[in-house]
Amino acid sequence: MTHREIGYRSSFPHGRPRRLRQSGAIRSLVAEHDLKPADFIVPLFVMEGQDEKREIPSMPDYYNYTLDLLVDEVQELHDLGMRSVVLFAKVPEEKKDNKGTEAVNPDGLMQRAVREIKDAVPEMLVMTDVAMDPYSSYGHDGVVEDGKILNDASVEILTEMAISHAEAGADFVAPSDMMDGRIKAMREALEEEGYHDTGIMSYSAKYASSYYGPFRDALESAPGFGDKKTYQMDPSNVDEAIKEAQIDEQEGADIVMVKPGLPYLDVVRAVSESVNLPVSVYNVSGEYAMIKAAAQKGWLDGEQAMMEALIGFKRAGADLIATYFAKEATKRLLEVK
Ligand code: PBG
Repeated sequence: MTHREIGYRSSFPHGRPRRLRQSGAIRSLVAEHDLKPADFIVPLFVMEGQDEKREIPSMPDYYNYTLDLLVDEVQELHDLGMRSVVLFAKVPEEKKDNKGTEAVNPDGLMQRAVREIKDAVPEMLVMTDVAMDPYSSYGHDGVVEDGKILNDASVEILTEMAISHAEAGADFVAPSDMMDGRIKAMREALEEEGYHDTGIMSYSAKYASSYYGPFRDALESAPGFGDKKTYQMDPSNVDEAIKEAQIDEQEGADIVMVKPGLPYLDVVRAVSESVNLPVSVYNVSGEYAMIKAAAQKGWLDGEQAMMEALIGFKRAGADLIATYFAKEATKRLLEVK
C-alpha cells in the first residue's frame, strides 16, 4: 500500500472524526491495519545439551533451548497459529575459527535442528540465519585478514552454509551478513544444486546498530575487535537502504528485510515502496529488551507497548515481522475481547 492523498474536506460540525472512534465496534470496523499470528516469524535460539531451557538475562521471558525442548516449543507455536521460525545456533567457543568451519558441518547443531524440526512439525516454515559471526573466533560476519573483513572469501563460505542448510531441509535461508553479491551467489548455487524451491529472505538493509546487544549476549557472538561498520549500514542513510533492497531483488531475493525495526520505520516505508517483494522487518533484541525492562519497572504497560510497536510495523509497510514478542502477541490476539 502506498500513501494516499487525504481529501477530507467536510468541516465541523458535520465532519466529526471522533464518530469513528466512539466504540470498540466502530474502531475495529475502520481499523486500517491488523495483526495475525501468521504475520510473525519467531526467532529461536538453540544450544547443545538436553532437557534444558535457559533464560537470556538481557531478554526477560526469552529462552535458549536445547534441541529436544525446542522441537516441543515449535509444535506449540504452530498450534497457536504461527507459521514461520528463524533459527540461530549457539556455538561452543572451541568450535569457533576464522573461517566458520563448523557452520558447514552437516551434523552441526543448526543442521540437526532443521532436520528435527522439519521432521516433527513439517508444516512449520523453517528459516535459518546464514551468518558467520556465531561461528567466528572474531565474532565477525566474514573472514578476517589483517583486521579487515574480506568480502568475496566470506561470500564463498556463506554460500556453502546456505547449501548446507538447504540440504538439511530449510525452507528459506536468511543471510544476515551484509556482504556484497551474496544473494546472487547463493541463488546461483541453490539453483545448481537443485534447490529451486528454497527461498532467500535477505537482510537487505541491516544497520550497524547498538540494538543487537542482547542477541549477542544470547549467542556470545559480540565482535572481538572493532565494530561492524564496514559492512552493516550507517544509521543516517535511507537512499542506501533502497539501493541495497533493489540490488537484492535483482540478485534473486524472495523477501527483503529491514533491521532493526523501531528506529527505522521510515526505512521500512521507503523500501516497501521501492521493491516488488514482501518486506519483513526485524524487531530486534534491544527493542524487545527496552519494552520488557520498562514494563518490569512498572514504567509502562508492556503488553500495550508491544502491540503498539507491532502494529506500527504494519502501518509502516511491513508485510512480515520477525519478533521475540510473537508468542506473547499471538496469545493476546487470540483472547476473545
Ligand atoms: C547475525 C545476526 C545478528 C542479529 C541477527 N543475525 C547480530 C549481528 O549482526 O551482530 C541480531 C538480531 C537481534 O538483535 O535480535 N549476523
